[in-house]
Amino acid sequence: MKLTQEEQDILDGKEGQTKAKIMQTLVEFGELFGADKLVPVTTSGHLVTSFGIGLLKPVYRIMDEIIEAGLKTPFPFTVDPRPIDYENVKCGVLDKLIFSKIMYSKQKHYEEQLSKIGLKNKNAFTCTCYLEEVGNTPKYGDILSWAESSAVVFANSVLGARCNRNSGMLDIFGALIGKVPNFGLLTDEGRKANWIVEVKTTSLPEAQILGSAIGMKVMEDVPYVKGLDRYLGTELNDEVISYLKDFGAATASNGAVGLYHIENLTPEAKKFNEKIINKDAKVYVIDDAELERVYKSYPVMWKKTDSKPSLCFIGCPHLTFYQLNKWTEKIEENLKVSGRRKIKIRTIMTSSPDVVEKFKQTENYIKLKNFGVNLSSICPLMYTNNPIAGSKPIITNSNKLRTYSKSRYYKDDDIVKIICGVK
Ligand code: F3S
Repeated sequence: MKLTQEEQDILDGKEGQTKAKIMQTLVEFGELFGADKLVPVTTSGHLVTSFGIGLLKPVYRIMDEIIEAGLKTPFPFTVDPRPIDYENVKCGVLDKLIFSKIMYSKQKHYEEQLSKIGLKNKNAFTCTCYLEEVGNTPKYGDILSWAESSAVVFANSVLGARCNRNSGMLDIFGALIGKVPNFGLLTDEGRKANWIVEVKTTSLPEAQILGSAIGMKVMEDVPYVKGLDRYLGTELNDEVISYLKDFGAATASNGAVGLYHIENLTPEAKKFNEKIINKDAKVYVIDDAELERVYKSYPVMWKKTDSKPSLCFIGCPHLTFYQLNKWTEKIEENLKVSGRRKIKIRTIMTSSPDVVEKFKQTENYIKLKNFGVNLSSICPLMYTNNPIAGSKPIITNSNKLRTYSKSRYYKDDDIVKIICGVK
């Protein structure tokens, strides 16, 4: 990799040993993937590591070293959701003990460390940092040092920013040095589609299942999706943004997609049309039967497959303001059908602190609360990712949560019936 004199000086330790080690990590990472140079990061970082898991001792040591060296990110950064929220997600004594003493014993300490190196503010904990309410919204062409897969795929695809699927710590290293290695999704060549996906369904597909089907087929490749604009239109409004957020998270978690193009809708597909498709691109046709096949293929991981669900999570990735309102309407309609005043299954909806604050100003917030739904800003995956919570029969409409936990996936229209007790 060709370095500038300034970069070489940092690597040689002229700006201190800590910076030299960070630079060395970035350079070796880049060389591993055939990067030709480092390029400047042009906007705020977003960190995937938001949880103070006691076992991650090297992370806290590295953070201490960064703080002692006086390093700070040039832009304030956001970070993934917290794993716990005792106020809105009540848990039993044993769960609380496991969370506070074993799983996330370093949470407070880690958050203090994050603050010292450039964390934006107390509301910065969300995976949907790119939403306008949160404000870490990259522009077209921005170069990022992010790692959260659902945020990376959204920023690349819907905003036209450029970011690789980095790992935790590499995101903070890139943000601190202000440079990332130039390869993969940062290059014009790496952003070309090597799959054409033809959507031939008879109605708008469930975002989470379509994303899952595409992710499992193309894995880390770039798909160019045709036929979806028939249902989504050609403008990125709130409804479409919400759809693409969930679709992208499913492509990134059920596969390893970091960028997709939607014909006539996403910025690079609009700008370059089919010129952005590689000549030898493969074709994947998705019709109703294919979606149903994928849906039916999800295993039920519960101990007893016929258990009654004890908890429902909606909002992975975090819900948009539009979605919070839509879910309130959906629940209201379904409670009318079931004749109940409150939901039947304990349900937690998750959204970013900034979106929750905005939603709290609305009548729908009161309604949702009265229906018995809890609103939180945690990461459901971090919450379920332990033997006690993980052994409970949890349901979700998130294909990401389904993939990484034992939670059982249901489509939106089915899950709302279950939680509202509609027969
Ligand atoms: Fe966000 Fe946690 Fe889901 S980071 S995408 S809520 S797994």
